[in-house]
Amino acid sequence: MIRTIATKPYDDQKPGTSGLRKKVPVFQQEHYAENFIQSIFNSLEGFQGRALVIGGDGRFYNREVIDKAIRMAAANGFGKVIVGKGGILSTPAASNIIRKYKAFGGIVLSASHNPGGPHEDFGIKYNIGNGGPAPEKITDAIFTNSKTIAEFRIADAAAPDIDTIGEGEVAGMKVSVIDPVADYAELMERLFDFDAIGAMFKGGFRMAFDAMHAVTGPYAKEILENRLGAPKGTARNFVPLEDFGGHHPDPNLVHAKHLYDEMMRPDAPDFGAASDGDGDRNLIIGKGIFVTPSDSLAVLAANAHLAPGYKAGLKGIARSMPTSGAADRVAEKLGIGMYETPTGWKFFGNLLDAGMATICGEESAGTGSDHVREKDGLWAVLLWLNILAVRKESAKAIVEKHWAQYGRNYYSRHDYEEVETERANGLVEELRAKLSTLAGTEARGMKIAAADDFAYHDPVDGSVSKNQGIRILFEGGSRVVLRLSGTGTSGATLRLYVERYEPDPARHGLDTQAALADLIAAADDIAGIKRHTGRDKPTVIT
Ligand code: G1P
Ligand code: ZN
Repeated sequence: MIRTIATKPYDDQKPGTSGLRKKVPVFQQEHYAENFIQSIFNSLEGFQGRALVIGGDGRFYNREVIDKAIRMAAANGFGKVIVGKGGILSTPAASNIIRKYKAFGGIVLSASHNPGGPHEDFGIKYNIGNGGPAPEKITDAIFTNSKTIAEFRIADAAAPDIDTIGEGEVAGMKVSVIDPVADYAELMERLFDFDAIGAMFKGGFRMAFDAMHAVTGPYAKEILENRLGAPKGTARNFVPLEDFGGHHPDPNLVHAKHLYDEMMRPDAPDFGAASDGDGDRNLIIGKGIFVTPSDSLAVLAANAHLAPGYKAGLKGIARSMPTSGAADRVAEKLGIGMYETPTGWKFFGNLLDAGMATICGEESAGTGSDHVREKDGLWAVLLWLNILAVRKESAKAIVEKHWAQYGRNYYSRHDYEEVETERANGLVEELRAKLSTLAGTEARGMKIAAADDFAYHDPVDGSVSKNQGIRILFEGGSRVVLRLSGTGTSGATLRLYVERYEPDPARHGLDTQAALADLIAAADDIAGIKRHTGRDKPTVIT
């Protein structure tokens, strides 16, 4: 039986950079999740009888919301729901399933790299039929709908069994429970040379992959150990836990410090990697070298043709604005297009769909290609493995040769987390007000060439996205960027991105923070970071 239930709107259901993210107790409020899911459906047209993909990263509250989403999809007229067994689908795997089975769209339940548990984070994101995050037109409509919602529709049925692979039914709608890993593993086998990578493992190559008790565990176990023959134990922390074992499933130098420390030891494995809560981010650490995500994008782009899926070459490269310009130099050398987009994977969708870009990346440990419409952690790891297997050199040698050829972009991000919203907004407003006066002035002896608030003109659909981050460009190619996070769940997070280009190989061995010290100080002089935030140092440096 289908029921229509009266509800009252909440005023805080505005999707951010990656969907709606809130603390679990917020989602547990009466009808909170139902309101948001109904607002998604109310923003869509033409889905009657079509398929909807549902899955999540397995965090606390995943199962409850999956149950509601399935029964609401049935009540709203979807013809079928495709759900990963146990409610599990990594974000890139969900994107692949939407595309492969030509679903109308998908609901992905995750708060990415944020911690999970009864008092931690949860999230709901809608992806469209191309497999990618909904564009702003749709997320804006969802928010508008959420502000006036008066009722939602739900099937009054028993919770469907999502733990057995096979076909079922809820209120006349089909429910197909699938193996979350199989389709994804098959896609990876098509893109990469599994024989070459397998031979490398057979030859004694050792790797540490840390799944951080999050969703990529089962994927890594199947692909690295079962299909590529890597030794047992290559995939670590591979059982997804509702609270990620109490850790942040965030593959950076803070939360995966143990992996970094191990990779710097003389007896380190040849290659180290990790992925985040929902499997779309990656951390790459070669023996003796941390590879920044911006450098990783550039190295992957320069070497992608060594993998079967990219042997025809790249059509173009896209990166988010705060990501370093390292990939730009690769695009220039290859003679292909380079696109600079706002932060957030959704901005890559049009470029990938239009065949203008093949590889995309963000400084925040996101790399991916046109094989799906999300960033993809394991994909990046496998492309690295493919390159290592073909070049038969260490990751360190490959990166250092890359710098020697293209120059090095020293790069770091400083995050000021949980700043009072008013103080963070005050900083941004004050900075915006003086942007037009900055060009031509000096900071710490460096001349400012230009300053603006980044606006993106989508070359495919003509849409314009304004206020996407403040850029201060110095003469010689260095820059600092400031923006407020769109994914936080408490207070505001100020991100400061700092980049310095160094062409001279004799100066490629500097400590990153030391190499950027002048720019960091200049950013504080210009923006008054300490004054506004009341902090004397960032919370996290990556
Ligand atoms: C952050 C990252 C951004 C990424 C997003 C989702 O967003 O900076 O690159 O796309 O998470 O993973 P932010 O919190 O900066 O808005
Ligand atoms: Zn993620």
